[in-house]
Amino acid sequence: MAAATATPLVIAVDGPAASGKGTLARRLAAHYGLAYLDTGSLYRATALAVMLAGGDPADEAAAVHAAQALDPARFTDEQLRTPGASEAASKVAAIPAVRTALLDLQRTVTSKLPGAVLDGRDIGTVVCPDADAKLFITAAPETRAQRRHLEHAGRGEDISYEEVLADIRRRDERDSGRAVAPLVPAADAHLLDTTELGIEAAFQAALDLIEGVLRERGRSA
Ligand code: C5P
Repeated sequence: MAAATATPLVIAVDGPAASGKGTLARRLAAHYGLAYLDTGSLYRATALAVMLAGGDPADEAAAVHAAQALDPARFTDEQLRTPGASEAASKVAAIPAVRTALLDLQRTVTSKLPGAVLDGRDIGTVVCPDADAKLFITAAPETRAQRRHLEHAGRGEDISYEEVLADIRRRDERDSGRAVAPLVPAADAHLLDTTELGIEAAFQAALDLIEGVLRERGRSA
């Protein structure tokens, strides 16, 4: 449990698709008794709203309108996890005005006690540059594709490993190459490569890194 502190404890977990950041962030939130926000779901929900209205996710006006009118009830929508939604999410995410429209929502979560764990691409660099601890999770593209492929198969979706790998590479390129809030580790982020790690080992490594940072900063959790 997070102890009562004067300011919320904020942990930023960034990284590319299927790096393991979502699983780690969720577990860290449970461990410290903090709120959890999967910021990718905001971009996915925005993209999905545009698509359901028959629009093009790359259309700035439509995407900004969808971001401003975002319905949090949509965040758990099964359709958010499809490859089409992933691809469309990375398109709306490249539009600067969409990112601006989603900032307040993300910062509201981090402003409340006892704090929050957020996962995404730009949490440590843009959304929460003053986060108490920042992790940047990586893994080889092939490993990430295997994990995502298994998830799709678990939901009974018929998508080949090759398609998943191509989707991951395309999104990595778009997320890393965009002009605004690109996917890059914050200068003060701790890198964690999960290629060779199972969930338990990755969680323990993440916990060790965060505990080290909090100790250094004299911040208790
Ligand atoms: O994390 P997830 O794969 O669900 O994110 C979907 C897409 O949303 C990413 O490919 C990325 O383009 C975008 N995104 C972002 N910034 C975030 C979270 C997600 O640009 N903080």
